[in-house]
Amino acid sequence: MKDKAIVVIGGCGHVGLPLGIKLALAGARVVLVDINQGAVDKVNAGTLPFVEEGGVAQLEQALARGLVATTDADACDSADVCIFVTGTPVDEHLKPKVSAVDEVLAQYLPRLPQGALVIMRSTLFPGTMSYLRDRMKTTRPDLRLAFCPERVAQGKALKEIASLPQIVSAFDEDSFNAAYRLFAALAPTIIRLTPLEAEVTKVMANAWRYIEFAIANQFYVIADSNGVDFHRVYQALRYDYPRAAGYKAPGFAGGPCLFKDTMQLASFDEQQFHLGHTAMLVNEGLASFAVKKLTRLMGGDVKGRSIGILGMTFKAGDDDTRNSLSFRVRKDLEFAGACVMCHDPFFADSASLDDVLAQAEGFVLCTPHKEYRDLQISKPVVDVWGVLQQSEIEILPGRAKEETTPC
Ligand SMILES: NC(=O)c1ccc[n+]([C@@H]2O[C@H](COP(=O)([O-])OP(=O)(O)OC[C@H]3O[C@@H](n4cnc5c(N)ncnc54)[C@H](O)[C@@H]3O)[C@@H](O)[C@H]2O)c1
Repeated sequence: MKDKAIVVIGGCGHVGLPLGIKLALAGARVVLVDINQGAVDKVNAGTLPFVEEGGVAQLEQALARGLVATTDADACDSADVCIFVTGTPVDEHLKPKVSAVDEVLAQYLPRLPQGALVIMRSTLFPGTMSYLRDRMKTTRPDLRLAFCPERVAQGKALKEIASLPQIVSAFDEDSFNAAYRLFAALAPTIIRLTPLEAEVTKVMANAWRYIEFAIANQFYVIADSNGVDFHRVYQALRYDYPRAAGYKAPGFAGGPCLFKDTMQLASFDEQQFHLGHTAMLVNEGLASFAVKKLTRLMGGDVKGRSIGILGMTFKAGDDDTRNSLSFRVRKDLEFAGACVMCHDPFFADSASLDDVLAQAEGFVLCTPHKEYRDLQISKPVVDVWGVLQQSEIEILPGRAKEETTPC
């Protein structure tokens, strides 16, 4: 790692920046290349463009060791390693937009020195690596190519890069060994897969999580529609019951990755991934369910009524609004004629919490930020997360532990 010149393309993003920091702290000369001038300026000034646990202190250390951010691609001209972590979206047909990868590579690959190592770190639609290898055979056959997908939870990357096993894959030994050495300097374990296996592993990990949330959300809707408090059921089914320990709680499943990667897997299976599509309907549908429920609680009509949305980011404690279902809730409410007031502790320009609480006649708690946990709201409120009303279940003593079961 020492003195390796590494360029991270998309280096001021949620995945690129933590990785760049870790590489710089491990001794590499790291340049973060990003088209977002605002984010570049923030990083160079020692400010994180987004919420990242432990980020400020580690960014400061990395800057002191020479980490630098720029919009200028010149750094590619002398890079030993070029890591790509730009977005890999799906299009309006929910199909992977491989052109997004193509365009970014076309911009930077021609600049790389002979024999440089290219590492794809974005989540790739399965088959993209083969496609890239074939294209590079004609354009840059000298470059080495590896795929090492990022698996961190957003906001916890700095911690998880150092603790999670890293997946490393390549078509040839030389590329694999170079990528292996780089990630072995950061992570405790390396898992070797073929590129296709690595691509599938990453999207299956996210699709599995998305389906887990969908199960919780479907059960919540079934219970709630039939007059059953799902949060009591949820506590009961998990209480001292190890097999249900990983059972997810209901809540809005938004964010930049889970939905998108479930759709990537569906495209890989030529749209036969019924469970994935169903999960999408359930998870996205929870927003409409919440609006319908609030409408019912408010007497059947929200037209002209003032409604407060608590939380606009896609998850608690994070400032990211990408694919946040709060916006879907807002759209549905506005379409029904409501006057919507939004609050989020991460947005200085949102209405103040006191004003929203005082003026709104009903609420949807969209993001369970800690700022909302102790609120006492006496007006109608929909809280699919179950953070406001604590539905305690009764637990009674049974047989004393040391007693044996009577035969
Ligand atoms: N966010 C996560 O927690 C997470 C976790 C695992 C994997 N991923 C995957 O990582 C990839 C990146 O996601 P992200 O959340 O970091 O996205 P992001 O939007 O936060 O970061 C991407 C960065 O790339 C920059 N960029 C875009 N085009 C560029 C170009 N042509 N040249 C230079 N920079 C450019 C953007 O300005 C942005 O800063 C995606 O494939 C995503 O699925 C994300």
